[in-house]
Amino acid sequence: MVRSFSSQNAPLSLLFSVLIILNIIICQTNASCNIKDKQILLSFKHGLTDSLGMLSTWSNKKDCCEWRGVHCNINGRVTNISLPCFTDDEIITENKKNKTHCLAGKFHLSIFELEFLNYLDLSNNDFNTIQLSLDCQTMSSVNTSYGSGNFSNVFHLDLSQNENLVINDLRWLLRLSSSLQFLNLNSVNLHKETHWLQLLNMFPSLSELYLSSCSLESVSMSLPYANFTSLEYLDLSENDLFYELPIWLFNLSGLSYLNLGGNSFHGQIPKTLMNLRKLDVLNLEDNKLSGTIPDWFGQLGGLEELDLSSNSFTSYIPITLGNLSSLVYLDVSTNHLNGSLPESLGNLTNLEKLGVYENSLSGVLSHKNFAKLPNLQWLSLGSPSFIFDFDPHWIPPFKLQNLDLQYANLKLVPWFYTQTSLTSLNITSSSFRNTSPKMFWSFVFNFSFLYLFNNSMSNVLLNSDFVWLVHNGLSGSLPRLTTNVSIFNINGNNMSGSLSHLLCHNIKEKSNLKYLSVIDNHLSGGLTECWGNWKSLIHISLGRNNLTGMIPHSMGSLSNLMSLHIYNTKLHGEIPVSLKNCQKLMIVNFRNNKLSGNIPNWIGKDMKVLQLRVNEFSGDIPLQICQLSSLFLLDLSYNRLTGTIPRCLPSITSMIFKNVSQDQGVLHIVDHDIGIIFVISLSLLAKGNDLTYDKYMHVVDLSNNQLSGRIPIEVFRLTALKSLNLSQNQLMGTIPKEIGNMKQLESLDLSNNTLSGEIPQTMSAITFLEVLNLSFNNLKGQIPLGTQLQSFTPLSYMGNPELCGTPLIEKCKKNEAPGEDTNVMAKEEEGSELMECFYMGMGVGFTTGFWIVFGTLLFKRTWRHAYFNFLYDVKDWFMSRWT
Ligand SMILES: *[C@@H]1O[C@H](CO)[C@@H](O)[C@H](O)[C@H]1NC(C)=O
Ligand SMILES: *[C@@H]1O[C@H](CO)[C@@H](O)[C@H](O)[C@H]1NC(C)=O
Ligand SMILES: *[C@@H]1O[C@H](CO)[C@@H](O)[C@H](O)[C@H]1NC(C)=O
Ligand SMILES: *[C@@H]1O[C@H](CO)[C@@H](O)[C@H](O)[C@H]1NC(C)=O
Ligand SMILES: *[C@@H]1O[C@H](CO)[C@@H](O)[C@H](O)[C@H]1NC(C)=O
Ligand SMILES: *[C@@H]1O[C@H](CO)[C@@H](O)[C@H](O)[C@H]1NC(C)=O
Ligand SMILES: *[C@@H]1O[C@H](CO)[C@@H](O)[C@H](O)[C@H]1NC(C)=O
Ligand SMILES: *[C@@H]1O[C@H](CO)[C@@H](O)[C@H](O)[C@H]1NC(C)=O
Ligand SMILES: *[C@@H]1O[C@H](CO)[C@@H](O)[C@H](O)[C@H]1NC(C)=O
Ligand SMILES: *[C@@H]1O[C@H](CO)[C@@H](O)[C@H](O)[C@H]1NC(C)=O
Repeated sequence: MVRSFSSQNAPLSLLFSVLIILNIIICQTNASCNIKDKQILLSFKHGLTDSLGMLSTWSNKKDCCEWRGVHCNINGRVTNISLPCFTDDEIITENKKNKTHCLAGKFHLSIFELEFLNYLDLSNNDFNTIQLSLDCQTMSSVNTSYGSGNFSNVFHLDLSQNENLVINDLRWLLRLSSSLQFLNLNSVNLHKETHWLQLLNMFPSLSELYLSSCSLESVSMSLPYANFTSLEYLDLSENDLFYELPIWLFNLSGLSYLNLGGNSFHGQIPKTLMNLRKLDVLNLEDNKLSGTIPDWFGQLGGLEELDLSSNSFTSYIPITLGNLSSLVYLDVSTNHLNGSLPESLGNLTNLEKLGVYENSLSGVLSHKNFAKLPNLQWLSLGSPSFIFDFDPHWIPPFKLQNLDLQYANLKLVPWFYTQTSLTSLNITSSSFRNTSPKMFWSFVFNFSFLYLFNNSMSNVLLNSDFVWLVHNGLSGSLPRLTTNVSIFNINGNNMSGSLSHLLCHNIKEKSNLKYLSVIDNHLSGGLTECWGNWKSLIHISLGRNNLTGMIPHSMGSLSNLMSLHIYNTKLHGEIPVSLKNCQKLMIVNFRNNKLSGNIPNWIGKDMKVLQLRVNEFSGDIPLQICQLSSLFLLDLSYNRLTGTIPRCLPSITSMIFKNVSQDQGVLHIVDHDIGIIFVISLSLLAKGNDLTYDKYMHVVDLSNNQLSGRIPIEVFRLTALKSLNLSQNQLMGTIPKEIGNMKQLESLDLSNNTLSGEIPQTMSAITFLEVLNLSFNNLKGQIPLGTQLQSFTPLSYMGNPELCGTPLIEKCKKNEAPGEDTNVMAKEEEGSELMECFYMGMGVGFTTGFWIVFGTLLFKRTWRHAYFNFLYDVKDWFMSRWT
């Protein structure tokens, strides 16, 4: 039958077989997913957390080759899993990363049982642990015998930006050692994996290795043999690596990208670096490297980026750098270089970025240095000793976007006004006196970034997104702002007149101002009722001005406000009820005013810091305070508060449990719209020293009021407190033994009350205690012996006539009945002398202070670098000025 069919209908049979073949091909492309692979994927899914169902397609209903992020080969075997939670484009600001929808929880290594898997990208998710696979027993024993069993041959593995992922042991990776070419673990915590280098040295095919921001602490100086023969890209930036640059690195002759920036490497650049002939990018920024920049750098002819900034290099900039004709980016700023700017750099026609500021360079700078640099976009000069000798009619071939000048008189940079593409200007310690202010201000009107430091100008309409005019010696009345301004800081000038110049002029559109800071000026008058125009504000700081009047009702319209600082001014009256509408308020600092009335009982639940010290508040402490479960700093000292300390304080949970993330984090408020973090620093006076914290500092200070009654035992349940000050009140009762639970306490002041009874033995458990003051009470009996309580001076205990034992001079009488008088009289004279010292040392303990350091971190890409430097600068500056 077959025969007759084939002989009689040959064409038909041909068609038939073609159909069969076609059919087979179609079947093959549709080859359904391998059962085993499917099981592995399902068990991987089972192990992780996918709260919003991003992997909802991963179910039995669909062929696994069609599941989200899964790609198969022609045989239905899974080869590629690509499930990054964000792509680079989607991350507009790092801060906007909302990871609610990302894959989280356990990353199960069973996924590598997919025998054909070769590409795995789970970057930007939220995994937190690595779960060893089912055969984990074999896993740990195969630490050297990699490649055994049916393990996949992954060549591309990306787990980067899983910021909560902690990997303590990387040995499981060895199973991929023969295949892996690309490994990216940026921002994964590898703090505990001290053998990462020895381990990765066994990956002969690895060509790209990214371990930036992994909290790596050590890197071996020596490797017996550097195996990474294929390595082309190596990124170890932003770790905690120190020692000298490891020698083995310079055997990696195939490297084209090497980034060791943001570590603490010290020592000199070794000559062996010359082996890296293929280098395109070398970044050693922000280390502690010293010595000279070697002449032979000029032989690394392929270099496109060279960043040696923020180190301690000395001597001159080598002329030979002018030979690096491919150079696009050269940054040697913030070192100790001297000499002149080599003319040879003027031959680097590809140069787009040139940074030499913050060195001690000298010599003449003229158009000759820049005439052949048509591509220059980013120029940062600045040394007090540069002599400018530009042809006044010279028109540069470049159009700068960013210009950093330091110490430069604008008049000496005559081509400045030709730079119509500038968007960012940073002029530090420069002089504008000889330029026309009008021309200058209209020229900079549209710059997005204006950072003018130590200059003098005044009285204008400003339009830059970012206006930073700190300490410029500016005088006159406050400038007006257009709706484009989002950050305005004019701290430390001589501005006078009223806030109304700034706040009350007519603006038609909605303002975008987020951050307003006018600390340390001579502003006077009231706070105005114009706040309704500025609803976008999230931070206001008006400290240290001559402002008077009451807190205006219109401030209640600031519904976005998170942080409000009006301190060392002359305000009086009650806190208006309208502030109740500022529901986002987290940080309030009204210290050193004459505010009166009751402490408000409507304070928003999110309050973290409430500082009302040195005012005239009266009445009871409202019980509603206890509902502020996020509060960690409560400072009501130096007021006229009466009544008792509320028993409900332990409802303030943040004073009981130390939140680990808080503990490591800085106190900040975040603006998601422009992607900026404002870092708030606390200044606390401890042991006579100003200490600045931008960390969370748990403090209760109710001292210097008229509080009475017993100290409720509940107070001693606030176990997260670092400082407790109840001194100068009329408190009575005993110190309960529960005080021993306050293990975090560093400062305790209960002085000048009428506390009685003995000092409980449990107090010796408070091991971090540095400041103790129990003086002027009615405590009695022996100071607990054999504990650190003896390490304090008598000042800590004086004025308690019935207290005895070291460090006091009064010896305890054996079998002394409690409460019996000791011979106080004899000691009185010594006592009064001690007293004087005591008053002189009254600074002891945490008091005063609270101000703002403005900081911005990362996020908006174009701003990233600038802001980073900026944060540190400004912080240093504040610290040196105002501590
Ligand atoms: C894997 O899939 C991703 C996303 O589709 C793709 O970008 C990548 O190139 C693929 N990798 C391979 C090796 O096919
Ligand atoms: C994050 O996204 C989820 C849903 O995708 C949303 O419910 C949540 O409010 C967002 N959180 C923030 C802080 O934006
Ligand atoms: C391999 O693991 C075993 C057991 O965990 C251990 O004793 C051995 O030292 C390891 N070998 C290497 C080379 O790490
Ligand atoms: C490994 O692969 C071989 C051949 O492909 C197969 O016979 C064997 O069952 C696999 N072993 C495991 C544990 O999957
Ligand atoms: C270098 O890699 C090979 C395997 O590729 C390995 O056997 C050897 O131990 C490695 N050497 C060092 C020093 O790690
Ligand atoms: C570096 O290379 C030199 C010369 O090729 C060789 O002698 C030395 O052993 C290598 N060092 C390392 C750590 O690989
Ligand atoms: C710049 O390059 C030209 C031509 O290559 C060369 O003649 C000149 O000496 C170079 N100038 C400097 C300062 O190196
Ligand atoms: C505040 O005003 C008084 C007098 O009105 C003046 O003496 C004082 O210097 C002013 N303080 C500041 C900081 O401007
Ligand atoms: C204790 O406080 C009272 C008023 O509360 C005050 O008069 C006295 O001077 C204070 N004593 C010390 C030693 O500070
Ligand atoms: C402005 O320039 C100074 C020195 O020129 C530098 O220290 C500072 O970081 C720069 N600021 C910004 C925001 O770029």
